[in-house]
Amino acid sequence: MIGIFDSGVGGMTVARAIEKLLPSYPTVYFGDLARAPYGSKSSERIVQYAIDNTKFLLGHGAKVIIIACNSAASVASDTLRAEFDIPIFEVISPAVRQAVAASSTGRIGVIGTRATIRSGVYEKMIQASIPEGKVISSQCPLLVPLVEEGWLDRRETKMVLRHYLHPLKMAKVDTLVLGCTHYPLLAGNIQPRIGKNVRVIDSSEAVAVELRDFIENNPEIAAKLNRGKDSSYYVSDVTDAARKIAARIFGRKIELIRTDGDD
Ligand code: DGL
Repeated sequence: MIGIFDSGVGGMTVARAIEKLLPSYPTVYFGDLARAPYGSKSSERIVQYAIDNTKFLLGHGAKVIIIACNSAASVASDTLRAEFDIPIFEVISPAVRQAVAASSTGRIGVIGTRATIRSGVYEKMIQASIPEGKVISSQCPLLVPLVEEGWLDRRETKMVLRHYLHPLKMAKVDTLVLGCTHYPLLAGNIQPRIGKNVRVIDSSEAVAVELRDFIENNPEIAAKLNRGKDSSYYVSDVTDAARKIAARIFGRKIELIRTDGDD
């Protein structure tokens, strides 16, 4: 199985992108809704949650792990790689690679939760590739709750987006990284507000491409991924909003299996 975890169901944007690109490989998903949001928590707390989530997925047959949550990826990737001896992917480095390749001016915008932007990980990774580049980042704490309320096309959401994107627009970024699981759901409203010539990078697609390349080049791991079996979607709490977001992301009803995380 391909194990994927997020703080909630937003990470299903990653699960969906993987399903599209690798339809015969099943995923086991864990959304930690009971302890979400991660984006406003301390790094120490998020690292502990990421360890718990990885153990849960390994217990459910995962042979590779995808950290679908940007907040967890930004603070816990190194710890998970040190603690667990299996391939671990995350949503940040593939997005950075895409952004670096797409940008011609080196002026790259990044939007994410407080935890992600505070970690500075996007700046570090982008500047390692383009030392003369300029990264302009913006914490967007209101966007996750707006998406969770299903307010994707509301006037209020467009106003909030305009507010958050304004400094990035003024800084003339030519590329914008959507550094949060939930933001791909707003991409249709982000593109016109940041400008039609700005390349918007959705990390969910980027990680799916990286995983596909890895599977093609590592047949011994591909052989352990239970090809042809069904995917399952576990959550540590179930809400109506979560059910709606999951259905919206996949375009079909998704059965969310409630778990305490240790079963
Ligand atoms: N999954 C989180 C992220 O990508 C957003 C939701 C949260 O704050 O838990 O950063």
